Amino acid sequence: MNILVTGGAGFIGSHCCVQLLDEGHDVTVVDNLSNSSIEAIYNIELITGKKINFFEIDLLDEEGMNNLFQSKKFDAVIHFAGSKSVSESVDFPLKYYFNNVYSSILLIRIMAKYDIKNLIFSSSATVYGEPSSVPINESFPIKGMNPYAISKIKVEEHLRGNFHEYPDWRIILLRYFNPIGAHKSGLLGDNPNDKPNNLMPFILKVASMEEEYLEVFGNDYETKDGTGVRDYIHVSDLSDAHVSSLNYLLSSDEKSGFCHALNIGTGRGYSVLEIIETFEKINNKNIPYKVVDRRPGDISQSFTDTELSQRMLKWSAKKDLNDMCKDSWKWKQSEMKRKKYES
Ligand code: UFG
Repeated sequence: MNILVTGGAGFIGSHCCVQLLDEGHDVTVVDNLSNSSIEAIYNIELITGKKINFFEIDLLDEEGMNNLFQSKKFDAVIHFAGSKSVSESVDFPLKYYFNNVYSSILLIRIMAKYDIKNLIFSSSATVYGEPSSVPINESFPIKGMNPYAISKIKVEEHLRGNFHEYPDWRIILLRYFNPIGAHKSGLLGDNPNDKPNNLMPFILKVASMEEEYLEVFGNDYETKDGTGVRDYIHVSDLSDAHVSSLNYLLSSDEKSGFCHALNIGTGRGYSVLEIIETFEKINNKNIPYKVVDRRPGDISQSFTDTELSQRMLKWSAKKDLNDMCKDSWKWKQSEMKRKKYES
């Protein structure tokens, strides 16, 4: 099948491309490389031994996108492209409405123009805001607590709310929990161009001694040890969930169109201290940390009910926290070696 992956050079997109190529799909990537690098494309090709059709196009470039859709007939689109920092979205909300909402609307419009009706959209567990209880299932209320979350909700709403416009489209909205880990080769990982504010990229900076210590944002939450609890999922498991979603889109016997929202996580919650402890043990590294005030906007705990995704996609996460910590550090070490070699 011909699959278009937007944002395919990014953290999750690049891992997904590997799995799509391994499954025998023909993969086209559009990415403006604003928060990723062309190295990821070369490394996908190195890992798989297969060629990617890569186009450096911004989704907001209507003419460029039109030329692309004219040149090739896609069977499905997996839409990752977008900005992804919660804190940045608070400072620059317009950027998020533009890059995440407006660009998605343009993509949907062009898909409609060229009669492409299969779509997987990268949503996020952040759409649930502060949940009233855990585990979180797909029927929990949606609450946008920051512009990033609102941007995801808007696209979801558009796809669901305007469904009468696309009655025969087959759409899956994947609400990711906290993706970490890296490709087992050490060639692909989370490589933000800016200063990281997520937990694992920051732990990696401390492990590599680029930062002296980790700040733990609060230890007075009502959780097992007082620190925030999240459902961390290995990026390879998350990529598998996309391939399973694609198989569902392309082969489900649901007769009419559909738009399903699915939570993608492991169903287990780990605290910040548990992550530090596991990372230290599995990698034999010391991670100094200091407890500081809570980070504004953080929730205390979040992990998913996996029942619906397991039932619908016949998928479940396979890798555990040891794998996530081990592969993240392996990736960071490879990155350090590459940078040293380049300089
Ligand atoms: N944390 C620290 N110190 C840090 C960074 C994070 O203690 O330096 C803590 C946070 O307080 C939180 C946990 O580690 O308890 C995880 O924080 P992350 O920033 O890694 O992740 P969030 O859960 O805040 O948000 C992430 C993504 C969102 C996404 C969401 C989905 O940033 O884009 O997961 O649940 F929507």
